[in-house]
This record gives sequence, C-alpha cells and structure tokens, in this order.
Amino acid sequence: MHHIQYQKNELMVEGVAVADLVKRHGSPLYIYSAQTLIDHYQSLSQSMSPVDHRIHYAVKANSNLAVLKTLAKQGSQFDIVSAGELTRVLRAGGKAEHCTFAGVGKTDAEIEFALKEGIYSFIVESESELSRIDLIAKKLKVQAPVALRVNPNVDAGTHAKITTGTYDNKFGVNYEFVRGIYERAARKPNLWLRGIHIHIGSQITKAKPFQEAVRKMLPLVQELKDQFHIEFFDIGGGIGVVYDPALESGKASWWKKQKKPPLTPQLYADKLLPHLKKLKMTILLEPGRFLSANAGILVAQVIDVKEALSKRFVIVDAAMNDLARPSMYEAYHEIIPFKKSRAQLVSTDVVGPVCESGDTFCKNRPLPPVQQGDLVALMSAGAYGFTMAGNYNTRPMPAEILVKGTKARCVRKRQSLDDLLELETA
Ligand code: LLP
Repeated sequence: MHHIQYQKNELMVEGVAVADLVKRHGSPLYIYSAQTLIDHYQSLSQSMSPVDHRIHYAVKANSNLAVLKTLAKQGSQFDIVSAGELTRVLRAGGKAEHCTFAGVGKTDAEIEFALKEGIYSFIVESESELSRIDLIAKKLKVQAPVALRVNPNVDAGTHAKITTGTYDNKFGVNYEFVRGIYERAARKPNLWLRGIHIHIGSQITKAKPFQEAVRKMLPLVQELKDQFHIEFFDIGGGIGVVYDPALESGKASWWKKQKKPPLTPQLYADKLLPHLKKLKMTILLEPGRFLSANAGILVAQVIDVKEALSKRFVIVDAAMNDLARPSMYEAYHEIIPFKKSRAQLVSTDVVGPVCESGDTFCKNRPLPPVQQGDLVALMSAGAYGFTMAGNYNTRPMPAEILVKGTKARCVRKRQSLDDLLELETA
C-alpha cells in the first residue's frame, strides 16, 4: 500500500487526494494506483529473474482496460478464462499470443475464437476438453497449443472457497492420469503439447504449499519435457497479500504466534527457484491478487450512523454488490477514514444499504468515530473487487479511477440507471 496512504492527515492515492476525487466523481468509487501495480509487477519479475519466466496476470482479479494496459506496458502477459477476458486484453492493446486460456468449462465458440486469435496455449481441464479442442483445430486446419492442468492434490491451507488443488475440487486432472493423457494426446495431429500447469489456490500466505506442489510435479514435468518436448511449466497464481496491516507490523497476536513473516516475492522465489532452475524451461506465473489487491481501494460515504444498545452501525453507500468479499468469504478489509483520526475507537459494524444482514463489511471492529457525509476507504480492494461487483438491489456499478502521480483518469464511468435497464423490456 506504499502509494495509498495519509499525507498530512489526508488519505491520498499517489499525489491525489481521495476527497477531491469523490467531489468530482461521486461515491462509491474504486480508485487504483498505477505505480503500485507497476512496483508489484517489477518486484515479482525481479525475484524470479534467475529463471526464464513470464508473468501472466490473472485478468479476473481486476480486468479494467486501463489496469491491463498499465501491466501490458510493463511486459505482462495474461491469464484469461473467457472470450470476454480475451476481448478485454485485445482492446487494451495486449496480444492473444501472450495469453493462456484457463477455465473449467470453455465453450466450443470460445475455443474457436481463441484459436482464430492465436492464443499462446489453452490450459486444459480434462481429456474430453482436449478432444473438443482437437476437433475444432482440425476444422480450422491449425494445431492447437495445449497444456494440461494437473491437480497435484496439495492442500493450500487457504479458505475453502478458494482452494483448488485437492481432489475434492472440480479443477484439473488427477496427477495419476496425466502421463496416459499426454501419450494419447500426442497421437492427435491437431494438438501441440506445449506445456503443463498447476494452480493450487488463492490467498496462500506461506511458501510451503507452493514448494510442496512444485516439488511433487518436478519428476513428471521433466519426463514430459523429455518425451514430448513441452516448453513451459505454469505454476499458477495464488500469492497471498496482507489485508490487515496489524499483521504486517507484527502487532497482532495471531501473527506473532505464526512467528513467520508475510509471504513476499523474494521468499516465494527463494523457495521455488532451486527446484525450477533444474528444469531449464520457461516458467509461467499467474498472479492476480498479488499485483492488484493493494493497488486499489473502494471509497464510500457515510449515509447514516445508528446507535444500537450494544454497538454502533455505520451505514455507508457502498454495499455487498460493490465489494462481495466480506459477505462471501468473511474477508477482512481494513477500513479507514479519509482524514486521519486520533479519536477514541468505538466498536462498530460498517454495513451497506442492501437488504441482507450479510451486507456487512466489518463487525464489532474498533474504529474512529465518523459522521454522516464522511468518507471511508475499504482498503486492498483492487483485486476481486469491481470484477465481482453486480447490480443486486438495482444498484448501479461504481466508477473506477486510475491515478498516476498527480494525474487521475476516470477509466470507467459510473453506471447510470438507464445503462442498467437498457437490456430489459417491460
Ligand atoms: N490462475 C488460475 C487458474 C486461477 O483460477 C486464479 C484465481 C489465478 C490464477 C489467480 O489467483 P490469485 O493470484 O489472484 O490468487 N474471488 C476470490 C479469489 C478467486 C480466485 C480464483 N482463481 C477472492 O476474492 O478471494
């Protein structure tokens, strides 16, 4: 969050005051820091520099065209999961040949579109998907580049809804089946066995599960390289970020108990590079959250403050439809006022206006007192924030702003009610 912080007691995104942006663009408002995206991209790329690697940013984390363009300019390539995401990459000036196409249910139309555009590789989820890709490639008279997603059966120790690498999950092909599938696929002339892929989950805060998965994969990857000349090993995304800075500063007792520092690109690289170097292959990484989470905030305005017998409710104009993570995963997002406060903290529930009790951003959290009209920022909202937003309760989607230095650009207009109703007929 280096570029989103208080300067002279006022919350700033790089060189621009949050309050000024809200004056101009209204609230709720997503604001992103371009420099933070760039710094995160560079630090990861730097840490992985001892091996030939490519960073395929997971577009699902934050797919705003300006965010994609900022990362593409740094040399980022892309992990996409739909024809829609591929279209975004192309509109942002990226190239299909720099994209891997993952996802557990690609339609024939999506496969055909990606093949015609010249995708770098499909990340294939089953043997039957391989057969469909082969048929479509035959029809188009091309060779389809493919890599199988292997489920290594490693527990990432993360939230159940975002763990993907165990046999309980719908993702990938069981490790034990992989050799047979490559052997059969090698006999299909319209398939080009280009790589192999794993992704064990998201918001993983320790290096160990990554290390375990990579170590388990090494002999298999080496074998497939020798036998089928595959050129890349995609180790997926999942690097966790710090959502609660109290943890980072070591203040929280939970973190002290762990006696471990938060996961950094350097720690991640230190654990994985000794294994990856041996392969002498191109290593692909698919980070989403690591690049964008702490590059963005969601700003909301206080609509009302309500005192109950046991607590205080702060009702803001952002809701679960704008930022789903707290209601969906009970995820922690730090909440801070736009003016630094030293007032005594009060136990507070910050809630949105949606008609569900789950529309709650935090419960019983000690926060500085705020009043109607004040602004608060929900921090670390740059990943899986806007991309998971919706129109529940007929609430228009917020605007998005990208700040670079002292310049701010509206990179997505606020949705109007007319926009929202445009596709409907009475
Ligand atoms: N690669 C694949 C195949 C994925 O499925 C994902 C995320 C990524 C890469 C990027 O993972 P990351 O580096 O961002 O952890 N909505 C949830 C997260 C869902 C992640 C889905 N897949 C959340 O808000 O926590």
